[in-house]
Amino acid sequence: MTKKINLCVFISGRGSNLKAILEACKQPDFPARVSCIISNKADAGGLDYAKEFDVPYAIISHKDYATKQEFEKALLETLTHEPVDLICLAGFMRILSPYFLEQWGENIINIHPSLLPKYKGLDTHARAIEAGDKKTGCTVHYVTSEMDTGQTIIQRSIKILKKDTSETLAQKLLVEEHLAYSEAIFCVVEGKFKQVDQSEFNFLNTSTKELGSTQTPYKNAFKASRDMWMSFTIIMKYATLSVIAILSVMALFLL
Ligand code: GRF
Repeated sequence: MTKKINLCVFISGRGSNLKAILEACKQPDFPARVSCIISNKADAGGLDYAKEFDVPYAIISHKDYATKQEFEKALLETLTHEPVDLICLAGFMRILSPYFLEQWGENIINIHPSLLPKYKGLDTHARAIEAGDKKTGCTVHYVTSEMDTGQTIIQRSIKILKKDTSETLAQKLLVEEHLAYSEAIFCVVEGKFKQVDQSEFNFLNTSTKELGSTQTPYKNAFKASRDMWMSFTIIMKYATLSVIAILSVMALFLL
């Protein structure tokens, strides 16, 4: 069985990315497990997934602390309760300060709904539509003390159609976000993006080799669905051309 790194997922709301990560972690070949979840909001919908998947969670509201540093100290203290190798921010609506990042280190990633470096911050879809962009996407990236910066791990994109609104884009992009986050965790564990010092992970170095062979089926699953779709479109294209050719020949005979 694949050795797994421990993730702590930080949320503030709905938690659909958290759910996608939890689902990915159920696969035996996925190289991570969620060891804990932290929400800064007691009413975050994502906490239902913590209960459903039986993962320990903590609610640490920034409102209960006089300063940001005290809030972040509470976060850091909570992170000592369970083994954690990598923090995954998934819709966590607080900006972590340089203090937190210095204390925690570089093993922290985030998902943002734009093709960074474009559209840092909020209202990314409205801004992409307003700018007349032909595509938008999501980025999973390492976290630095500057908002929505840090090395990109993975991006996925979708086309912006004329009829798209911020809402339809957000809805369509969410499907890509869910795939991107699991793919990015794979890339981090694989060590393709060396920002993280992997010796800090709890798994042994030898497991990296094991992961090298076990991750392929997972990646292939994405490739296989894309390949199937491409084959289908090619077959449909040739079928349509054949029908047009047959109809043209029949029309010639009839004339
Ligand atoms: C996602 O669109 C993510 O890109 C952004 O916040 C949203 C969180 O959604 N950072 P969810 O809570 O994971 O459903």
